[in-house]
Amino acid sequence: MGRIGGLLGLSPNGFVLLLGLAFILVPRATHAWSKEGHIMTCQIAQALLEPEAKEAVQNLLPSRVNGDLSALCTWPDQIRHWYKYRWTSPLHFIDTPDNECTFDYSRDCRDQRGVEDMCVAGAIKNFTSQLLHYQDGTSDRQYNLTEALLFLSHFMGDIHQPMHCGFTSDLGGNTVALRWFKRKSNLHHVWDSDIIREAAKQFYDKDMDLLQEDIVANYTHGVWSDDISSYASESINIACKWGYKDVEADDTLGDDYFNSRMPIVMKRIAQGGVRLAMILNRVFADNEEEMATPT
Ligand SMILES: *[C@@H]1O[C@H](CO)[C@@H](O)[C@H](O)[C@H]1NC(C)=O
Ligand SMILES: *[C@@H]1O[C@H](CO)[C@@H](O)[C@H](O)[C@H]1NC(C)=O
Ligand SMILES: *[C@@H]1O[C@H](CO)[C@@H](O)[C@H](O)[C@H]1NC(C)=O
Ligand SMILES: [Zn+2]
Repeated sequence: MGRIGGLLGLSPNGFVLLLGLAFILVPRATHAWSKEGHIMTCQIAQALLEPEAKEAVQNLLPSRVNGDLSALCTWPDQIRHWYKYRWTSPLHFIDTPDNECTFDYSRDCRDQRGVEDMCVAGAIKNFTSQLLHYQDGTSDRQYNLTEALLFLSHFMGDIHQPMHCGFTSDLGGNTVALRWFKRKSNLHHVWDSDIIREAAKQFYDKDMDLLQEDIVANYTHGVWSDDISSYASESINIACKWGYKDVEADDTLGDDYFNSRMPIVMKRIAQGGVRLAMILNRVFADNEEEMATPT
């Protein structure tokens, strides 16, 4: 908790209070990987940045966050309901056809009105290509690259949350009401935050820094694909195999569900971080090496 609480200038109790408040204020049907998930993904990514990317990120961040990307990784969730940013709302998720368990970019990456590319995979492509213009310098910049960086960093977290690529009719599990141990929750929320908070509570004395250290130690080896559509395919696959599996509305999920799903959640947080670092390292690489447009 230290680092996160410290960041917000809050005592541990203040942090808990803030979390409690967030709980009350956030509307029920949200599509948001929890604050903790996003913060860890961004911290894992920032630690893996090469010098050029590190410098570019520092330059793009507002000075008030002292170079800490994770401090603003949840910004897109905060502004998505503002009038000016309403267009970003469909960019946090993908709804796939019920029980299909596959992701097909041209079929699924649309908003409710059918506008193409308006989904989390399209957003990642969009903001990655905007950031490629960082090298062109500041004169007549068409896009706000600070915002592009924050959106990319946030959406790389969202696309790795399996229930952000869930079924259309239940809004990615948001309408599957159930109990998490003794509390009321829903399937989306279980994957967004209940599992992470339960892990922190049971094994790390609520210390998110220790939890994150373990994630890095356990899950950041290995070479991972950098094909953006495949991140979404992985997510809907996991959503079917582990998220929806054996869950019905009004169930109570407890130890069995927690113990079998926790490693998956932790791995997804790590993958989001490592892959975000890969993208940023490539986008901001010094040499003008052509970066293939991500697919
Ligand atoms: C891409 O970003 C621009 C603004 O920077 C926005 O107008 C457009 O809707 C975005 N499209 C997607 C798919 O994210
Ligand atoms: C870019 O966006 C950030 C965050 O919304 C804002 O604070 C900043 O003023 C914008 N920069 C420009 C040049 O418009
Ligand atoms: C890391 O691995 C250890 C040993 O297998 C396990 O007990 C622990 O729960 C894992 N930590 C996380 C965050 O997944
Ligand atoms: Zn989000």
